[in-house]
Amino acid sequence: MNYIDGFAGPGEYHGGEAGSPIIAIESAIAHVAKGTIGADVEINFIFIESKPEHADHLRSRLSDLEVPSSFNISVIDGEFSEQVGGILDKLDNENKSLAPTFVLVDPFGFSGIPFDLMARILKFPKCEVFVNVMVDFINRFLDHPNDRVVAHFPTTFGIQEVLDIPSRGGNRVQQILNLYRSQLETHAKYVGRFDMHGKKDRKTYSLFFASNSPKGFEKMKEAMWSVDKVSGNKFSDADPSSAQGYLFESMGIDVLWDEIIAQFSGKRVPMTEVDRFVIENTDFIPSHARKLLKSHEKQGDVGVIAANGYKRRAGTFKADKVDIVFPDISQ
Ligand SMILES: C[S@@+](CC[C@H](N)C(=O)[O-])C[C@H]1O[C@@H](n2cnc3c(N)ncnc32)[C@H](O)[C@@H]1O
Repeated sequence: MNYIDGFAGPGEYHGGEAGSPIIAIESAIAHVAKGTIGADVEINFIFIESKPEHADHLRSRLSDLEVPSSFNISVIDGEFSEQVGGILDKLDNENKSLAPTFVLVDPFGFSGIPFDLMARILKFPKCEVFVNVMVDFINRFLDHPNDRVVAHFPTTFGIQEVLDIPSRGGNRVQQILNLYRSQLETHAKYVGRFDMHGKKDRKTYSLFFASNSPKGFEKMKEAMWSVDKVSGNKFSDADPSSAQGYLFESMGIDVLWDEIIAQFSGKRVPMTEVDRFVIENTDFIPSHARKLLKSHEKQGDVGVIAANGYKRRAGTFKADKVDIVFPDISQ
């Protein structure tokens, strides 16, 4: 599998803070140590960086790391779109497919990230993109007087319509985000968004995740919920709720119960189907559904039927071993 960081950066910042390539590798090392990634799974880490001094600094930081022999690490000097475009051209010419790949696209600004390239990546099975859309910048530059600046937007969004946003009125930030999402949705079955807010709670950038794999989407949603226990889609420097996360969390997931009941009222449903519904159709993750099922089973609202021969422990909901019987709200 491949992990591509298209705008890799120098690998470390002034305060000694690790950059995204180092974080990715250290996290993969930890997974190999825990056994959640097999020691024999080959991972190609490809870091692309256009600034030679950043690329050199990154190389020196990477050379300090002790990595498993199953990791292949390369730092490529160059531009994201040219380098990844070149890799895909080569595969096309040889009639080959791209191995499962996660592509992190973290530019500073809004140029150099042509939407066509995202679409080409998403065409391959198990290939996914995680793109930082700097919505605050985009909003400010969308009606810039210099045509050369504005000319970037149709390429970045893959559609001319983006240029109509300033003249439409209404909430521009929302329209920018909706358009980017709908563009991704034409190529990916699953699209998620995580918003980063600045000091005055102003939305500064939005991270879009796009994938055609339900497993990939589930993992990304889990990661987002681990950062934001309130709603799973926001981090704010101004957010006082992080200190009270658990209080909000337990209030927030009741919404999920309403969605589950609206879908499954009065039915007997395999737990695998409940999980699939939660991942694909709600903002939540399977662990939230289990928390709710546990308390509703205690209250006697739901029944749980274990597969023949399976010894179930109370309060557990093993995906392929139990069916859930939901209350009928029409009665
Ligand atoms: C926002 S920083 C990336 C930070 C990195 N993801 C991290 O968390 O450490 C953007 C980096 O991309 C580089 N860069 C700018 N344009 C690029 C392009 N078209 N292709 C590749 N790298 C580029 C910049 O030199 C800079 O180091």
